[in-house]
Amino acid sequence: MTTGMTSNLMEHLKRETHHLHIALVKLPFITSLADGSLPLAAYVNQLRAFATIFGAFESAINELNDPDLKTSLGLEESRFNYLLRDLGCFGRELIPEIAGVRRSSVAMASRIRLLSLESSGGLLGYLYVLQGTVLGNRVHLPDIRRNYGVTGALGGAFYAGYGDRTDEYWGGITLLVNGAVAAGADPGEVTAAAREAFNFLHEIHAALYPLPPPGEMSFSATSINPEAGSHAIPDDGMEIRAALMAAHTCRLSYPYFDARYGERGKRFAESDAAWLASLVHLPESEVVAQVAWLGGVLSSRGMPRVTLEHQLTALHGVLVAARPHRHLEYDRLLAASRWLKGERLRQIPAQLSAGIVAEFVVASQGEMDGLLQGMGRLIVSAVCDEAGGITGAVTTVQQWAGDSGRFSAGWIVAVRECIAQARTMISRREPGI
Ligand code: HEM
Repeated sequence: MTTGMTSNLMEHLKRETHHLHIALVKLPFITSLADGSLPLAAYVNQLRAFATIFGAFESAINELNDPDLKTSLGLEESRFNYLLRDLGCFGRELIPEIAGVRRSSVAMASRIRLLSLESSGGLLGYLYVLQGTVLGNRVHLPDIRRNYGVTGALGGAFYAGYGDRTDEYWGGITLLVNGAVAAGADPGEVTAAAREAFNFLHEIHAALYPLPPPGEMSFSATSINPEAGSHAIPDDGMEIRAALMAAHTCRLSYPYFDARYGERGKRFAESDAAWLASLVHLPESEVVAQVAWLGGVLSSRGMPRVTLEHQLTALHGVLVAARPHRHLEYDRLLAASRWLKGERLRQIPAQLSAGIVAEFVVASQGEMDGLLQGMGRLIVSAVCDEAGGITGAVTTVQQWAGDSGRFSAGWIVAVRECIAQARTMISRREPGI
């Protein structure tokens, strides 16, 4: 090991992985992103792959309980959070998953989990490569905006990253990586892990584009098609029953479902709940990423995310009551519900939202004497979803709740007012909150 290498590990890593970076940047995924021909499906699958990888990576770093390493995860927010938010924004387009991308990203995530048990040097190599994407993302943010019509906050948060503060952020990573050698990290190990991470990402990006033949892209349960039924459900009868109970509870809390979607809605509420129960075997970060995606799908089709939030809590309650010893697995559903709640309250804090709902209850004659109880919460949630980048979240609810063939003029005015109030509340929010 040379002295230069120990004192400037960052320079060493850059030199040693230069050829891998060049090879990656030359892949058709990147060149097509730059010339505007990369299909949305490839972009969304890249976000999914990174969500799988960053989920594993950030949990591994958090578990090490090293305050310096934790700061490497982000300035204000972690990049996993940005990915979750972006994924929710594309629910409207039912974009199938690319099997090869899924396989490689799951393999990379597993490798990260293994490394976290073996050595922090290995994680440091991954950190260099994964967080290094803030620099490439900065270059390609304009392409992402132009190609997919997204903004930094809505659908392009991962690429927008830390914006003007990117150099500051990368400066922090440089200090951290260079300082790690003095703290005992083995530069050879860090470098080998960085090469490995580049190779995984190469494999993933090669599989992302050109898109594979349709047979190798499938609607997995993550992209739940309301008309398709073949997705995973638990093989444990108790868990299936728990899912049915949770779906039932959710339908009772929101009669809107039965009123709008009838029997078909009931079947889908049940199969979605069963699918949610089947997620508990995944790591928590993956459960949250899948729920973030499903939330976008459902909300853009008229089922605001607050319902998924409640369904997850109800499901968790039933599962834990039946099998208390398995609560660690089931708690992953609660984590996903909390993530959804956090996203909702980020737009309108609980107290303000309760005020808008209370006004709607009065204006709507007690949500039409209980027949449509919960409608105010649904409307406010739809507005929060819309502000979070879910296109069509409000329009699809308003199409039904504002239909003059179905409702009185008074009700329709109340719905319109409720939407307007929630939107005003969001527009008055201080930027960045
Ligand atoms: C998944 C894909 C990518 C990964 C993993 C990646 C990784 C990295 C890493 C680790 C660095 C830090 C190099 C250093 O030590 O200073 C870096 C820098 C950089 N990357 Fe990428 N990158 C990716 C894609 C891209 C793309 C598509 C571009 C666009 C052409 C790009 C442009 C840059 C630039 C301009 C720098 C700064 C180089 C410098 O300061 O000398 N990257 N990238």
